[in-house]
Amino acid sequence: MTDFIKVGIEKIGIYIPEKYIDLSKLAEHRGIDPLKWTEGIGQERMSIMTKDQDVVSMGANACLKILDDEDKKTIDQVIFATESALDFSKASSTYIHKLLGIQPFAKSYEIKQACYSATAAIQVAADYVRLRPDRKVIIIASDISKYGLKSSGEATQGAGAIAILISSNPKIMEITKESVSLTENSFDFWRPSYSNYPFVEGKFSTQLYIDSFIRLIEEFENRYPGKLSKVDALLFHLPFSKMGRKALKTLESKLKEGHISIEGFSDNFEKLYENYDKSIVFGKEIGNIYTGSLYLGLLSLLINGDLEGHSEVGLFSYGSGAVAELYIGKLNENYKDFLYREDIEYLLKRRNEISIKDYENEYFDDQPTQSQHFLENEEPKDLEEGYYLEKIVEDKRFYNFKEKI
Ligand code: CAA
Repeated sequence: MTDFIKVGIEKIGIYIPEKYIDLSKLAEHRGIDPLKWTEGIGQERMSIMTKDQDVVSMGANACLKILDDEDKKTIDQVIFATESALDFSKASSTYIHKLLGIQPFAKSYEIKQACYSATAAIQVAADYVRLRPDRKVIIIASDISKYGLKSSGEATQGAGAIAILISSNPKIMEITKESVSLTENSFDFWRPSYSNYPFVEGKFSTQLYIDSFIRLIEEFENRYPGKLSKVDALLFHLPFSKMGRKALKTLESKLKEGHISIEGFSDNFEKLYENYDKSIVFGKEIGNIYTGSLYLGLLSLLINGDLEGHSEVGLFSYGSGAVAELYIGKLNENYKDFLYREDIEYLLKRRNEISIKDYENEYFDDQPTQSQHFLENEEPKDLEEGYYLEKIVEDKRFYNFKEKI
């Protein structure tokens, strides 16, 4: 019976911080040729967190425009996917459950596997809804990517949140059951609990990413012969905008040299590259938002591209450490009607650039660990509307909401 139930993405919301820095200016400041970051890495700007936001408030803000009262009554699970957790015990989704007013008999929990965890959450949610088609699951992917000042990964930081509502009314994209996953215990990027910043083997991480992609393509073709030849776009986890292109190029060479074959695959790389370029438009402006990145790429393609309804897309999810998954999504006929295009464009337009000096002085302040009152009796100036972190009292976090004036 469950074979006939379509499940997938009904709504997608996004939040990005109000501040950004220009990477060309940061490169000049560091004595690096700006082209290395704009051309070589493929990034233009990088989102910078403000003090009144954290992963919880960003996640709640990503849900703000998309959830209506009916959704809040029907959501059974609030899954928070992050590698920027605030607490080893209490899940960030417990705050979100309260802030958004989700019905009380829902479960809220947090999951982690580097940048892969949002995809794990989507698959858990899809299976849950396949068995209970009248219920919904909300997934919040929220992260702050920080490597440290002057670190090798400095140009590949970012911050933001994506919210994804999974239901049996997939107005945007159906999640098919065609999927293959891969686990390989490795140290390409990891953050032990005692460290504020991750450790990264940069070159190894990019190679492992590409190897994982190729292995998944081969296994996918073994299990579902001919399915890959039908996809009109391949979407990638995007730590920086050149990363997926490197993987796509490797696939192209391997196919041309006959190291891999895909049944029925004619040379449609022109279309794949064209769609790839549409998928990186938002990421180039925002940077790496870790587990939300693949879905920021999906949103970018759906808004900036012109894929027809019923097109199939392949999604490659990668989380260092490492776990990866390749699965197929099918677009709904009228998917464009259900994207919050104006909101996303507004979020990008409303940002303010900050100087490199402010970035260095403020951004790398440690997260508060004890009682602090940030904005009690005072609202954040830059935030037009939404949730913000108001204070931490006796190690407990409190959030507030700023109404639109
Ligand atoms: N003009 C144009 N291009 C230039 C240039 C110039 N003046 N100078 C250098 N370049 C090019 C280089 O040729 C290179 O391009 P190719 O890779 O196509 O050859 C590119 O710019 C980057 O140069 P380097 O490799 O020398 O850069 P780097 O040593 O500073 O490191 C990085 C790059 C490894 C990605 C580093 O930023 C990093 O460690 N980032 C964090 C880790 C990461 O993002 N890994 C990705 C896979 S892991 C993952 O996906 C999970 C996750 O989210 C972390």
